[in-house]
This record gives sequence, C-alpha cells and structure tokens, in this order.
Amino acid sequence: RKTAPMPQDILARKGGTPLVSLTAYTTPMAEMMDGICDFVLVGDSVGMVLHGLPSTVGVTMEMMILHGQAVRRGLTTSMLVMDMPFGSYEESREQAFRNAARMMAETGAGAVKLEGGVGMADTINFLVARGIPVMAHIGLTPQSINTLGGYKVQGRGAEAAALMADAKAVADAGAFAVVLEKVPAALADEITANVAIPTIGIGASANCDGQILVVDDMLGLFTAFKAKFVKRFAHLGDDARAAIQAYAGEVQSRSFPAAEHTFAQTAPEPSK
Ligand code: KIV
Ligand code: NA
Repeated sequence: RKTAPMPQDILARKGGTPLVSLTAYTTPMAEMMDGICDFVLVGDSVGMVLHGLPSTVGVTMEMMILHGQAVRRGLTTSMLVMDMPFGSYEESREQAFRNAARMMAETGAGAVKLEGGVGMADTINFLVARGIPVMAHIGLTPQSINTLGGYKVQGRGAEAAALMADAKAVADAGAFAVVLEKVPAALADEITANVAIPTIGIGASANCDGQILVVDDMLGLFTAFKAKFVKRFAHLGDDARAAIQAYAGEVQSRSFPAAEHTFAQTAPEPSK
C-alpha cells in the first residue's frame, strides 16, 4: 500500500486477514515496522519499557506526545494510534476530548486508544461524534492496576458476561476496534464472533481479528519480566548484553579501536 490505513479501513478488516500491530516508541523502531504493521501503537507501556516506571499509572501526556512525535516521523504507510495516559480522559468526556484532540494535533496520530468498557462508552461516543476515532481496550486494563489488585486474567467464570457487555458497549459507542488483553481464549472467540468491530488480541486468541504485542517484549529487549502471552521472536537483549561485554573487553585490552577505526595524520590521496 502507498498510504496509511484509516480507522474505517481497519474496521473493514473485521473477519478478514488478521490485523498486524505492534507498539513503538522511537523513530527507528517505527521505521522497521512501517508498512508491515497495519497500525502502530504508541502504548503507555512506554513508561515501563523505556522509562523504568513500576506501572503505566505515572505516564504523562508530555511523555506520550514526545514519543508519538518520534514514532510519527518513522511511519508512512502504517496508521499511528496513541494511547491516552492514565488521568487524561477519565474525569469527563470534555477532558477526554481536550486531551485526545491535543494528542492528535501534536503527533499527527489517526486515532487514540483508551481503557474501559461500559463505563467509557459515553466518552467514546462523545469523541467519535467530534472527529476522534477511538480504539477501546478491555479485559486487563493496566491503568487500573491499583483497583484490579494485580495483572490477572480477566473474564473468567461469572466475569465473562460483563466482559462481553464491555465489548458490545464500546462497539455500540462507535469504537473502530477493541483490544482484548489477557482474557480466556474461548471468551475472546465469543466476543470476536459477537461484535461487529475487529478484536485485537494480546493474551487472547489467534481467532481475534488481529494481534498486538509490545515490541520490546517480542524482540527480547525488555526482560524485567515476561507475561505468559509474550512470545520472544528474537533475543536482542542477550545480543546487546554480549556486545557490551565484548566492547568492555576490547577497550580494556586496547584492541578497540583498531587501525580501521582511526585516522591518519595526513589525508589520503583522492582516488582516481
Ligand atoms: O500500552 C500498550 O503497550 C498497550 C498494548 C499492549 C495493547 O496498551
Ligand atoms: Na496501554
């Protein structure tokens, strides 16, 4: 494709070829996934992955916008989605609109994502009616870690009906897609079959309409912990640690820099 998909293009992929997405926080990483991912999410996971925060609760609008601008510069044919950080949208639909509009204006994102189901439906409806495409995020919603009491599987047993209600509520409110995080596979399949918008799974099911992972998790760069749903497609953290060790050894043994990395006193003759 020559241009980035729009939210309606993502919506139209319901039931089709699975949507491919990853998070990104920097320009070079965004460049690597440009055109491969249908959309790229600047997740508030940036707080934990790149800033060493203990949860996503401390992530600010300023952090999101700075990373959003970096990612935007790396994308030409993937859609950019920005996470709304904790505290930027829950207070009122007006607050949500103000911050979502600022985030889109300052980053050039095509959509925002926010956490919540039934309780956020009114806000989603308000944003969509005013020109802001919204991706919803239900199931495990990490910004609510302090009320959830842990990063547990969501929607087991009697909770299943409530999660289905969340999915239907965000779809009815006008969300163009919904992330399902850490929910039983059978429930993810049921939700996927019963809502008209694409489901994007993370710790959900291969039958979702698409998948997302945190890029540093799937590359093996973030290794502080690994959720069960993370598959490491590479082990770049191991490579980086080995490279740093090798560098230290070569500096100490004076084998780096070698002649090829140094400059002669006189400039070489221009080649003929
Ligand atoms: O912040 C994030 O990275 C996310 C995805 C994992 C869905 O919300
Ligand atoms: Na997030």
